[in-house]
This record gives sequence, structure tokens and C-alpha cells, in this order.
Amino acid sequence: MVDRNGWGGDRPVLTGSRRSPPPSFVEQANVTDSGIYDEFDANWPDCWERAADLLSWNRPYETVLEDENAPFYRWFTGGQLNAAENCVDRHLEAGRKTHTAIRWEGKHGDRKTYTYRDLYVAINEFAAALRELGVEEDDVVTIYLPMIPELPIAMLACARIGAPHSVVFAGLSADALATRMDAADSEFLVTCDGYYRRGDAFNQKSKADNARLKLAQDVRTVVVDRLGEDLPHVLGDEEFDYHGLREEFAGETVEPVPRDAEDMLFLMYTSGTTGEPKGVVHTTGGYLSHVAWTSHAVLDVKPEDTYWCAADIGWITGHSYIVYGPLALGTTTVMYEGTPDYPDRDRLWEIVDRNAVDIFYTAPTAIRAFMKWGEDYPDRHDLSSLRLLGSVGEPISPRPWNWYYEHVGNGECPVVDTWWQTETGAVTISTLPGIDEMKPGAAGPGLPGIDVRVVDESGEPVEPGESGYLTIARPWPGMVRTLYDGDDRFRAEYWDQFSAPDRGEWWYGSGDAARIDEDGYITVLGRVDDVINVSGRRLSTMEIESAITGVEGVAEAAVVGRSSGTNGTDIQAYVSTEGGYDDQGAVHEAIVDNIEAAIGPIARPTDVLFTPELPKTRSGKIMRRLLEDVANDEELGDTSALRNPEIVGEIQAEIREE
Ligand code: WT7
Repeated sequence: MVDRNGWGGDRPVLTGSRRSPPPSFVEQANVTDSGIYDEFDANWPDCWERAADLLSWNRPYETVLEDENAPFYRWFTGGQLNAAENCVDRHLEAGRKTHTAIRWEGKHGDRKTYTYRDLYVAINEFAAALRELGVEEDDVVTIYLPMIPELPIAMLACARIGAPHSVVFAGLSADALATRMDAADSEFLVTCDGYYRRGDAFNQKSKADNARLKLAQDVRTVVVDRLGEDLPHVLGDEEFDYHGLREEFAGETVEPVPRDAEDMLFLMYTSGTTGEPKGVVHTTGGYLSHVAWTSHAVLDVKPEDTYWCAADIGWITGHSYIVYGPLALGTTTVMYEGTPDYPDRDRLWEIVDRNAVDIFYTAPTAIRAFMKWGEDYPDRHDLSSLRLLGSVGEPISPRPWNWYYEHVGNGECPVVDTWWQTETGAVTISTLPGIDEMKPGAAGPGLPGIDVRVVDESGEPVEPGESGYLTIARPWPGMVRTLYDGDDRFRAEYWDQFSAPDRGEWWYGSGDAARIDEDGYITVLGRVDDVINVSGRRLSTMEIESAITGVEGVAEAAVVGRSSGTNGTDIQAYVSTEGGYDDQGAVHEAIVDNIEAAIGPIARPTDVLFTPELPKTRSGKIMRRLLEDVANDEELGDTSALRNPEIVGEIQAEIREE
């Protein structure tokens, strides 16, 4: 089994010393009954009513799970609900109008507070505006906004009128935006003039304009003025000013549209094993139940908490755990626009201190950076308000885990290492913080009701301690329902490999490798498909390679993940040029430009190595696995099947020189 995260092949599982949940935490935890695992097993799938019960339904569901047409599962059918009503309206009815819903911390120290009442007003006015612009139920609205309050407002306004949103991460390029809008046939866009990045005003509108030029369909566009005078805010054809619309519809309300549980709530594009991004479809009832339940059971969110997930809403983590989960539970969710080191490296701890944050959820890449910067930064602040810490996005090894536990949590907060994916919708593997022992380095067991199996190529479960493919053997409410691009791709991507339809077994293939221990705890080893996870961001090697081979003079390219200290994984590109293209500097520059144009700066390779040839099998297939081993300075297997084995030694020598 290939080991992409430097865990050391098949050596024993590297977990640190076990830790019990701190008693002070257990005393107050939302879930403390250790019988919950057995209870969920015994009552599966009805156990999931416990999740659905956290929501308000306009019409109660009749069936918990319909599995006749597997793997196209349907949850809570017959039920109707509205996600915006669940996240906002019902908290007003409960007399919590003045409770803070969103606490926004801007890049330059500016702050905004939205009470549930403020959020209600904003969402209603914008929903009324969207209707006026022609958005109808089931129209896909693309949202291309940075971390400003208008982003969750736009999402919830869409949810209110039953229009699925497709949020595209603001750092992605014009091409990437156009590809996603084209694939979703989206005729509506919400974007902004620009935003600040490390002090500079950055033009978002010009990217949106370029994307629109590439699209066949007309696109009605709403533009949020984020920068004021820093960038001229000129509206063109079919463009509308967000603040102007809010004024025009001031005080208007829109009845939340009751949606069937299985109606689409949103689309989220993510990288797959081909160059085309996948449109992951999430539905209203199952998704919202699952994110609310895991916010309650795993993140221990309570309405009176100040809760902070320091992710970007442009990815699934922010959808589930900045917007939908915490708001469904009526808590205060913190939203941060900036970076952890601006103006200084204690920025996050300053925000925790000033807001008395109770729960903090971030990614290992950030934790490794904190560790590198040293404990002086958290030590400058009072972090005693913290009760629970979370990690998500990539494996966290024991050293940063322990550092987080000691220096941020002061040894008093459980750390939940939550494994999940865009496709799982919400957390599927984690310890329950009020019940389970923690093992640094291992995420934990499958949550109650989540049947996690680690299997070999033929689908047989592996022995404890051995590595294999991470699969899930039963459906769950937050799961992807299909891909917008088609049911066939959905089956091919997730189900064909490990399912046995003749036996009625449908096992979901996650694309990750993992090890399971004797207690059922899972250590995730990383991706085993053509996806690389760079600082918790998912990128497709094919997509990057096609951007590279689009450069004049490039003959062939291969891209692999390389483990690195701080980033976890970074990108190593191998490129061969056509005869006559000797100016490697110029080609290198063009490669970087092309990748930024096709995907965005997040896909920039850390290193580009020029080589006369790439190692290939006799049938002409590039041996990426081998190139990955070379990049990671790992022992190479048998190279005799190669057509050009000598090239491997040359590449290896060059890499070692660097
Ligand atoms: C991939 C999914 C889920 C939100 C963030 C990313 C990796 C995620 C963990 C974890 C080890 C993890 C996996 C997974 N991953 N959480 N706790 N330990 N690896 O969502 O972009 O869909 O990426 O992130 O490789 O497959 P995503």
C-alpha cells in the first residue's frame, strides 16, 4: 500500500499515548452515553431519527431510509422542510432574536455582528431581490465570494427560495468558475468587486467578467461592494448592486419554500480522478440532519456557545460547520476573513480571547504552522474559554496533535480529529468527545451508525494493523446523492470498486487508504487515487497536468504529491519539453501562469523538475507511483517493467541534489 503521508509504509501505527476525555468536559457534554454505539447498531437506520429530530419539519417524514434503488439512497422521504427556516426563523420564534448568529472578524480589524434578527432581515431582503431577478425554485445560483457576511446571507437566501447554490471558492480562477457555471447551467452569479489579501486590494470582479465572457448562457450578476473606494465599482449589462437591491427590498419578507427532504440544497464542485470537477449533490433533509447532529454530538455545540470553525466557506468544511451546522443549532458562529499571521502570528488567539470562543475547529496545516511559530503566541492570550478543539482536512500526526492539546487546549480540551469528505457531507469518523478515549494520530472509530471498513483490493476486511482501502458499508444521511454530471459517473467514482450488487452490498469507496486498529480506530494514510491533498485542499493531478501540457513547448507532464514538513503535502511536477525549447526558465514561468489561470494559485507546484523523458511502462503509461516514490525519497520497487528504467536514476539524482 502506498503511503503518501510519510507514515512509514506498513510499520506499526504511530499513535501517541492515549488520553481520556477531561472530566470537566464530560460533565457537560451533549452526548455521554457510551451505549450509543450499540443503540445505533440495533436500531439502524431508525437511529438517524435522532439527527432529524434536531430540525423543524414542515411535514413529518414517513420513511427514514429508502434503499430500493441503491446506491441512490433517499432519506427522510415524505418530509418537507426549509434549511433557511431551520437555521434562522425558528430561532426567532424561540425568543432569541437578539442572540448573535454571526460574529464577523474582518481582515483589517473591522468587525460586524449579525443577530438572528439581523440575519433574518438580510436573508429575506436578498431572497426577495433574487426572486425579482428571476431566480426560480431549482435554479442553480453560483456564489463567488470571499469570507464576507454576504456569502452565508446569499447561501441562505437561496435556500429560502429553494434555489440550490453552488459556491465557488473565491481564490479559484476565471476558467475554473466558468467550467463550474457551464457544468451546472447556472444563469445567476453573486460576486463582489474585490477583496483584501495580505493588505492589497484584489480584483474579483474582473475574474467574474472573464468567466462570463466564456459562457454560452447569459448570466445575471449581483455585485457586492466590499472595497468601497479602493476599486471602481462599475456595473455593466445584467449587473446589479447588492446594497442597492437590499435597499430596494428593505423590509420585505419571503415565505420559506417547503422543500422535499430529497430536494437539492446545494452543489459543491470538487476534484476527482479525471480533469473534470465533480458536482457533488447534497439534499435538504439528510444533509441538514447530519450536519446538525455532528455539530451537536462531535463538536458539542450548544446554543449559548461562541463557536469558531476557521475554514473557508468556499469548501465543504465551511458549508457544514460555519454555516449550516452551527446555525441550525442556534449558536454564535465566528467567521474570519483574514489569515492566521496578519497582522501578527497571534491573530487567531487574539480573536479567541476577545470573543471568549468555546469551540475551535481548524486544519492540521494551520496547527503545524502554529507549532513552528512557537508557544509564545498562544501564551500571550487568555484561552481559558476553550472547551473543545477540532481538526479536519488531512491526517494530523501525534506531535502537532499533542502541541495543539497542550498549548491551545491547556490539556483540558478534548481534540476531535474528524475524518470526512465533500461527498460524506458531514463528519463520519471521529471520537465522541464526551465518551471515547483519544489516540493522537488516529481519527477514531466510525461514528454511531457509520459502518467503516478497511478492505483489500478484493473487498475483504484487512487485519487490525494492516493498511487497506477506507470504505463505508452502509448509507448515511449526509451522503452525496449523485453527481450533477451524471449517475454513471457517480457509480463509477464511488461504488463500482467495492460493491457486490448481486449480494445487495453497496460499499462506498472513499479514495483514501487507512489502517484500522483492534479498537476500530482509523488512521487515515491519504489518497490512493489521482487526487492530492495540499493543506487540506483537494486537487486533481489530471487537472494540473493538463494545465502544464497546455504550455507551448511542453511535451509531457506528471504531477505527484510530496510530503513536506509544514504543508503536509506539496506539489512536485515533472516536465519534459519538446526539442528546441531550451529556455527552461521561460517554460517554468508559463507553466505557473497557466496553472494559476486554469485553477488558481493554490495549485502552483512547489517544484518543477525538467527531465528529458518521463518513466513509462512498455505500453506507454507514465509511472506516477514511481515518480511519487522518487519525490518522497522512498525506496523504489522493481523498475524492470519500464521501457526506460535508466531515466529513474537520473531523476532521482537530480531530486537529491536540490
Ligand atoms: C479528503 C477529503 C472534509 C473536509 C475537508 C476536506 C482528507 C479529511 C481528514 C482527517 C485524514 C482527512 C482525506 C479525504 N481528510 N479529513 N481527519 N484525517 N485525512 O474535504 O476536500 O472533500 O477532502 O481530505 O484524504 O478523502 P475534501
